[in-house]
Amino acid sequence: MRALITGVMGFVGKYLAEHLLSQGIEVWGTSRMESPLLRLKNGNLKIVQNNLDSTDDIHNLLCSIKPNYIFHLAGQSNVKLSWEDKEGTFYANVNKTIFLLDACVKYQQENPRMRILTVGSSEEYGKVESSELPIKETTILRPMSPYGASKAAVSMLIQQYHKAHGLNVIHVRPFNHIGPGQSLGFVVPDFTKQLVQIEKGEKEKVLKVGNLSAMRDFTDVRDIVEGYYELVLYGKLGEIYNICSGDGVSINEILNKLIELSSSNAIVEVCESKIRPIDIPNYIGENSKIKSDTDWIPKYEIIRTLEDSLNEGRSR
Ligand code: GDD
Repeated sequence: MRALITGVMGFVGKYLAEHLLSQGIEVWGTSRMESPLLRLKNGNLKIVQNNLDSTDDIHNLLCSIKPNYIFHLAGQSNVKLSWEDKEGTFYANVNKTIFLLDACVKYQQENPRMRILTVGSSEEYGKVESSELPIKETTILRPMSPYGASKAAVSMLIQQYHKAHGLNVIHVRPFNHIGPGQSLGFVVPDFTKQLVQIEKGEKEKVLKVGNLSAMRDFTDVRDIVEGYYELVLYGKLGEIYNICSGDGVSINEILNKLIELSSSNAIVEVCESKIRPIDIPNYIGENSKIKSDTDWIPKYEIIRTLEDSLNEGRSR
């Protein structure tokens, strides 16, 4: 079996590649940059440079790799940045997905069993009433960020491609995922970087934060990628699945846990520039659909994920 992961050099891509290799799957990935073959713990990851800018180029790539599974991870995933670059976010998340889906429609004539997983987000739900919690896949989409709107568009497109062209596609809505190696710009690495600097005496004790009152549903990235693989194998075609823990944690709790795990005695300071135009107060998801259609069970406790993330920050 062969898999192609778009945007493989991102945070989730490398974890997914490791997991697929551990299942005996040959793994290829696309990256914007030219990259040599990457030796991972479980095998080699073959990387091809492709910007996903052209249906023809993607189709040629599919004809040469002949994947059984495509995991479409490439995209602009930063919610705050999507306010600053709305057009770039839509091009990266919507237009490039259209190029990929069109290439898949063409390629599916040669390999009708190929399956595609597109990655959306809980941000597609946007403004959710407290009576709608925990959020089900059937909850109305009212995205409240350009990022959320772009991913909601993808979720609608895949249903059209499935119905119109019989494309074997499944769309996943992961809630917040965290773990070692996540880049700055997301809440846990933003906090751990400062805590490590304070621990090392490289920075004064002030830890700058944004909105601490939001509730989020966190899952370890290592559990998330197992869910992606389960869904590409057993998910129902044309369907949408949440991946989440089902538990809400406030950002303030995350911050306090990280401060306890560190030896920093940090002084917290809310920083205006980190506050977003709109920040959804409550995202807690429902995960019964993925659990009933696949064998997915998340394994990592949040405290272990935070500890691993902090330790990885210390070794950077
Ligand atoms: N990034 C960041 N940095 N967020 C902060 C900070 C900070 O210093 N302080 C507080 N926050 C708050 C944000 O305002 C938000 O309420 C929450 O922490 C989580 O922020 P992010 O980690 O940036 O994640 P997100 O919820 O906006 O989006 C993430 O999750 C989505 C799934 O729900 C991203 O990973 C998206 O790509 C993903 O789709």
